[in-house]
Formats: sequence, C-alpha cells, structure tokens
Amino acid sequence: MHIDSVTVDHSAAVGPINRRLFGAFVEHGGRSVYDGLYEPGHPLADDDGFRTDVLDLVRELGVTTVRYPGGNFVSGYRWEDGIGPRDKRPRRLELAWHSVETNQIGVDEFATWCRRAGVELMMAVNLGTRGIQEALDLLEYTNHPAGTTLSDQRVANGAATPHGVRMWCLGNEMDGPWQIGHLSADDYGKLAARTAAAMKMFDPGLELVACGSSWTGMPTFGDWERTVLEHSFEWVDYISCHAYYQERQQDLGSLLASSMDMQLFIDTAKATADHVRNKRRSKKTINISFDEWNIWYIDEHAGAERDPQAWPTAPRIIEDVYTVADAVTVGSLLITLLKNCDRVTSASLAQLVNVIAPIMTEPQGPSWRQTTFFPFATTARLARGTAYRPSITTTTYETERHGDADHIDSVITYAEEDAAGAVFLINRDQLNARTITVDLRAFAASTVTEAIVLADENHHAANTLADPERVAPRVLKAANVEDGRLTAVLPPVCWAAIAFH
Ligand code: AHR
Repeated sequence: MHIDSVTVDHSAAVGPINRRLFGAFVEHGGRSVYDGLYEPGHPLADDDGFRTDVLDLVRELGVTTVRYPGGNFVSGYRWEDGIGPRDKRPRRLELAWHSVETNQIGVDEFATWCRRAGVELMMAVNLGTRGIQEALDLLEYTNHPAGTTLSDQRVANGAATPHGVRMWCLGNEMDGPWQIGHLSADDYGKLAARTAAAMKMFDPGLELVACGSSWTGMPTFGDWERTVLEHSFEWVDYISCHAYYQERQQDLGSLLASSMDMQLFIDTAKATADHVRNKRRSKKTINISFDEWNIWYIDEHAGAERDPQAWPTAPRIIEDVYTVADAVTVGSLLITLLKNCDRVTSASLAQLVNVIAPIMTEPQGPSWRQTTFFPFATTARLARGTAYRPSITTTTYETERHGDADHIDSVITYAEEDAAGAVFLINRDQLNARTITVDLRAFAASTVTEAIVLADENHHAANTLADPERVAPRVLKAANVEDGRLTAVLPPVCWAAIAFH
C-alpha cells in the first residue's frame, strides 16, 4: 500500500475561481444543435422545440457559459442566415463538417436557449470568410438596444431585449490549415487587432479573445501567440488555448497524464503574453480562455465518417463514447484548470451535446450522461471560492508521451464565507489503491460532508444507449478528518472529490 500526502497552507492560494471556468461549447455540427438540444416533435420538447430533458441535464452539469456557434463551423457562417422567419432561412452547404445547414436555429433562438439553461452566451465571429463589417453588424444586432436598422430587426424578430453578449472570440483556430480562410500569424494578428479595435468602439467593456494555437503540436505553437499578441495586445483581453486528448494504442498512462500537456500549454501562453506585455512595459494582463478542451478520439474518425458525395443534415459524427479512464482524465484536466485559475479565467468543455459531449440524446428517445459528465458536474458544484495548489508527495511512473508523471494530482478549493472546501484528487496508478493523507489544518477542517469517487474495475466501462447507467460515481467510503488531517483510500485509476467543512 502506497501512502501519498497532500499538504496545503494559505500561501498556496492561486486565486479566486472564475465561474466561467465551467463553460462548454455548442457548435453547429453533427447532432449538437439539431437532434441534440433542439428536436421539435420530441415528446419532451418545449414550445420552441428545445428538449427539456437536455436543458435539465445542462443545468445539472453546472455549465456557466456556452461558446457558440463554432468551432470550425463559424469560419464559413453567415449569421444573417439564422434570423427572421424560419421558412425564409436559406439551406446552405456547410464545408467544415460537410453537411447541410438548415439555419433553423440562429442567434436569437440560441440566446433563448441560453436563458432557459441559465448560462451566459459567449460568441465567436467569422474571420475566415468574413471580416470587420460582418462582426460589427452581428454585434449591433445582438447588443444594441434599438433604434437602428439592425437592432430594430432583432426587436422585430421577437427579441426586444438585447442579448448582451460580453465575451467574443475573434475567429476560431485560424492557425489550422483545416480552417476555412486559414491565415498566417501575421495576417491573423492584424485582422484580429483591427476587428477588436472596431468592436471596442461599439463597447469598450467587451471581452475579446484572440485565437491562440489549436494544440501544442502545431508547428507554429508559441510563435503564433507571440506574433498575434504583438499585433493585437492593446485590444484583446484573452488568448485562447484548445486541446484534445485520447488514449492511443492502449497507452492509458499517457492519457491519464494529459494534464501535463495542458499545463505546458498554459505556461507557454502565459509566458508569451507576459513577454509581449513586458516588452511594451504595459501593466495589462492577458488572461487565458481555454475555450476548447476534452477527450476526442480524433484518429478513429479521420476520414471515416465523410462521404464526399453526401451532404447530410445533422449527421451522426464524432459521437465519442467515453470510458471511466476518459472521465478520470477529464477530472484531472479540471484540476489543472483550477490550479491555474489566476490566469485561466474562462474555459469551455468541447462540446456539450452528442458531439464529443458529456450529454447524449437519441431522436424521439432518451438522453443520458456520459462518464465525463460526473467529474465536470461535481467540480462545477463543489469548487467555490479560492483554489489552492497543494504540495504533493507521491511517486512517479513513465509515460510514452509526457515523460515521468506523478501518480497523484490534486487541487483544493475553499470558500471562506461558507467555511466549506473541497479536495479534488486523481490516482493515475493502474494497479494499486493509494492511501492519501491531506493536511487541511490551514482550514481547520473538521468534517467530511461529501466524498465521491469515480472508478471501475473495467477502466474502459462506459454509458451507452443500451446501458445508460453502467457507470456512476459512488460514495468514497472511509474518508474522514481527524485533527485537521483527512485520510482516504483511492482505488486504481480514479477521480475523487471530498468536500469538507
Ligand atoms: O470541437 C470540434 C472542433 O475542434 C472544433 O470545431 C474546432 O474548433 C476544433 O478543431
């Protein structure tokens, strides 16, 4: 039996946890919107065609913001197609996901859905096939109260109150050759700067996100961020990071240590933003919007789902089925986001419904929670107040992709006003249970109020339509506090959350 220890004191405080850390992402692609959150005619659909069972699950998941409408989709999107009477909206070829976009959902309907879900709408503008004018038009349409052609058009379309979108992404993954209208860092940096400057003439309080690298494997990684920020530093507020992980060739150890790559990404984005700031002798801090992150079995999908002759509507694409090990990794990625919450002040799990998603639906049928739903929902619920980066004594193991990885990782959160905190833990050991002691004397912890573990003897167990409740978190027995010290036993390959008072 291995004994690992986690120790925390007040000097380990990272910063306040921004609720935007628990955001998600909805893209027009596959069955995310159509036959996902929107299915008129489903027995549980409301008057607007939104599935109420999905809305319930989104609320249970604890999502705070939703980035919309893409993703790769946004780089070919004409937002005007999605407003006004539905029967007049064009059907268009959608190149990013090789399908037909019916435009039955547009910005007004999606803003209504966000209100119903209780989430903040965060939008992306198209800087692939379009530019400054279209971004400004969309901004005026969504955010100006009334009295101009565009704002009055929104009012006439039934949205008397402006949608009040604060956070805007300046395009999507413009460093990627797969992106419609892909640009060099230099060209994108200039376009992002000019678009941002113009958008801030409308409202200087907007929060604007410049595209960072699409993943750490991009050949331009690091240089891209520097060049983009050198052009746009004055006008933007965030640099984005995107990261997807998968278990390759049954290398479970590397999957479980994916957060090491996420940490490298955050460190690089932060250092680069600070380098650009210091060169300018500026006091402004550029924060990180980690606005796409998840597990994605992208290698399995490559080319397999696309018939070049077919242009389907809402095809079943990239509907990954997540395992327990994937969920443990998602829990670990959340630990890393929390450990960096002084600079990562916004993040979006990609995506939300059906497409690489924690929530799945069947047309005319049920909806269910994937394994990854559980660590997200519990972390969003329990991680309150301030995050603390504890010091951890543990052993390491070798991984193929990330070098040596710690068996145990952890973050602690504490909300002073409620005298309530939580310890989030991951055990990456594939063979052994680990006894953990967590020194919580700094918070005078006296009681465990809740202890949850996600683990399974079969690390690849999953929830499916046929067996939607195969995997669920269970109570972590024998987690207790004595003299401010918590002890618990973590089974192999698990994610756990222990709340204390
Ligand atoms: O989330 C799926 C896709 O991943 C998004 O459209 C794109 O931004 C990223 O490459």
